[in-house]
Amino acid sequence: MSTDDEKSRRIRSMFDRIGRRYDLLNHLLSGYSDILWRRSAVRALDASAGDLLLDVGIGTGDLALEALKGKRQPRLIIGVDTALQMMGIGRKKTVDSARQTIRFVGGRAESLPLRSGVFDGAMVAFGVRNFTDCAAGLRCMWRVLKPGGRLVVLELSVPRNPVIRPLYHLYARYVMPWVGGLISGDAEAYRYLQVSVEAFPERERFRTLMEGAGFVDTGWRDLSLGAATVYWGEKRI
Ligand SMILES: C[S@@+](CC[C@H](N)C(=O)[O-])C[C@H]1O[C@@H](n2cnc3c(N)ncnc32)[C@H](O)[C@@H]1O
Repeated sequence: MSTDDEKSRRIRSMFDRIGRRYDLLNHLLSGYSDILWRRSAVRALDASAGDLLLDVGIGTGDLALEALKGKRQPRLIIGVDTALQMMGIGRKKTVDSARQTIRFVGGRAESLPLRSGVFDGAMVAFGVRNFTDCAAGLRCMWRVLKPGGRLVVLELSVPRNPVIRPLYHLYARYVMPWVGGLISGDAEAYRYLQVSVEAFPERERFRTLMEGAGFVDTGWRDLSLGAATVYWGEKRI
């Protein structure tokens, strides 16, 4: 088994292990800001009514569900994830019309099992940090977008403000694994969360990765004093 396959397997089983408590911990550890961050991401996607959307790393479905809240209803949202149990929880949360509109599909971001050039928009919330090959994931999302299609990525970041940054480190290194461990029974997953956020090529570095994958008109904006960042770009050929 290659190291990429091994990382992918570890990430998948970690998310499947914490799945039951994932939504609760997201809300608690972010002070419920995760809801506002997803709302900002959906706004940045600026989808039109009737669009076909892709949600990579859909997990328990909160980003896709947020995309259904606006007036401009997408025609269909295809959610792709490696963690089947996370998607099982997401499926249970999608009721009424959302059940018809959101489809959960097993698959990897780096080799999306989808046709090229069909999606009007693609989005990822808190997922790219976990991809085994971020550049390959971005290239794959570029491939499946239509010309003119837009990608929005929401990801956690380390705040840049010199006063807030050390407080954030204290919180992320000590409080998050403790609370995460207490509630999910898996402190290691919440230690991984902090390590992966610190290792992530955030802001300008991620924008460069997006451009390397072919996206144009790229940009990013910090949210909540830089605890999260929303990135966007377009496929134009
Ligand atoms: C932190 S969760 C985010 C879930 C959801 N997007 C949200 O807003 O809460 C990250 C999700 O990405 C999935 N994931 C990680 N690596 C992936 C990959 N290479 N391909 C597809 N999904 C992946 C995980 O299984 C997990 O469900």
